[in-house]
Amino acid sequence: MTQTATLSQRNIISMESLTDTDIDTILDTADSFKEISTRTIKKVPTLRGRTIINLFFEPSTRTRTSFEIAGKRLSADVINISGASSSTVKGESLIDTVKNLEAMNPDILVVRHNCSGAPALITQFFNKPVINAGDGTHEHPSQSLLDLLTIREYKGNLKGLKVAIVGDIAHSRVARSNIHAMQTMGMTVKVIAPPTLIPIDIEHLGVDVCHDLTNGIRDADVIMILRIQMERQNQGLLSSLREYSNYFCLTEEHLSNVSDETLIIHPGPVNRGIEISLDVMEGSRSLILNQVTNGVAIRMALFYLLLGESDANSN
Ligand code: CP
Repeated sequence: MTQTATLSQRNIISMESLTDTDIDTILDTADSFKEISTRTIKKVPTLRGRTIINLFFEPSTRTRTSFEIAGKRLSADVINISGASSSTVKGESLIDTVKNLEAMNPDILVVRHNCSGAPALITQFFNKPVINAGDGTHEHPSQSLLDLLTIREYKGNLKGLKVAIVGDIAHSRVARSNIHAMQTMGMTVKVIAPPTLIPIDIEHLGVDVCHDLTNGIRDADVIMILRIQMERQNQGLLSSLREYSNYFCLTEEHLSNVSDETLIIHPGPVNRGIEISLDVMEGSRSLILNQVTNGVAIRMALFYLLLGESDANSN
């Protein structure tokens, strides 16, 4: 068997810290794992005997489920802990929770937390790999990787592609991860939103800024629509959802001005009819469910690359 490729990082905390070689390695590995999920028996013994803990302090459908499925398809034992059912509700600190989980000798920890920086902090107290499954408004690296895998599948390559990211940029860890990753991969990124939903220093990240949806998407190869994050709107940045929707909901009318080859992606969950119309969401250019399918392969690749083939196969 060939040697497992290695990554420059032992933890996956941000796309900002991954190189183009790291990203290519993860995407190629995920590609090779996709076939396993099409089998009748969707399981290989690669991570037999290894233990994965999913520790989620925020709600999740796609990310938590796909990390669990990914671990199980590689034959690892997967433990899911939600914040609401952990002893943090009794006052235990995040660090004490992590130290207690470490005492049971798991092999990897997947963490989602509403505080930006929580997964990075955990790496100082947990001596096995940590994967950030989304931290506050900071980053969501595995989402960005599945977005890139989906785009590469349909476009053939990433370099030179123009991506328009539309929506709640201010609160979006998906936007932040993708801005870093897409530029690392030689893509250009434009963000499109009302001024109040774009961080004031966003140009420092090397993106173009536009406040008009029709003009902003005109030359895009890929349009990424983001959810309005209702749970993080506490600063009065939106006058009303209806007004947002009037100006920024992607409709077929907007798409009449762009190439037939332009792809539509959305990380989910979707606010139907708020940021994307139903016909666009379910139309032929929409890859929203392909992204979800690719999420399993990406997470299998991350487990495999971080745990290592030779170590995983040892007795
Ligand atoms: N895209 C994403 O992170 O979805 P979930 O919140 O359902 O995991």
